Amino acid sequence: MQHERGPWDLAGQNPAFGDLFNEGMVSDSSFIMKIVVEEFGGIFKGVTSLIDVAGGLGGAAQAIAKAFLHVKCSVLDLPHVAANAPASTDVKYIAGNMFESVPPANSVFLKWVLHDWSDDECVKILENCRRAIPPRHEGGMVIILDMVVFFF
Ligand SMILES: C[S@@+](CC[C@H](N)C(=O)[O-])C[C@H]1O[C@@H](n2cnc3c(N)ncnc32)[C@H](O)[C@@H]1O
Repeated sequence: MQHERGPWDLAGQNPAFGDLFNEGMVSDSSFIMKIVVEEFGGIFKGVTSLIDVAGGLGGAAQAIAKAFLHVKCSVLDLPHVAANAPASTDVKYIAGNMFESVPPANSVFLKWVLHDWSDDECVKILENCRRAIPPRHEGGMVIILDMVVFFF
């Protein structure tokens, strides 16, 4: 199945656009992750390792790693994004494609990802997330931070 990646392909072909977009997402994370950590930090209780799927430059993963020292955080994103990942952070960056596979972890985190894709594509992404984590009774968890869109 070929996934229409639109802006993500453009970001790979046009570094100026890619840099601007990815820095914008980091900026978003510095705002929203403060709220996640302070208001909803309890969801990370029991999480030992976490993969931030399509996590960009890792703003969200860095915030989680800093707030919850027991959580080993990794970021999965396309190769041209992972290639620009910041050095010297506690977060590990992995180049890959969430439609092919998601590296194993105790939990998966998806921030501002699913709303970009069709229902069928979301099912594919979530199937790969499910394969990456242990069963629920062994602590496996998928944490989704996204907007709810209503069509009238
Ligand atoms: C809206 S951004 C969200 C970034 C990050 N989760 C955040 O909230 O800051 C969507 C991200 O999906 C990544 N992406 C797009 N297609 C992907 C794929 N097939 N596999 C992995 N990442 C992908 C893009 O490179 C981009 O970083």
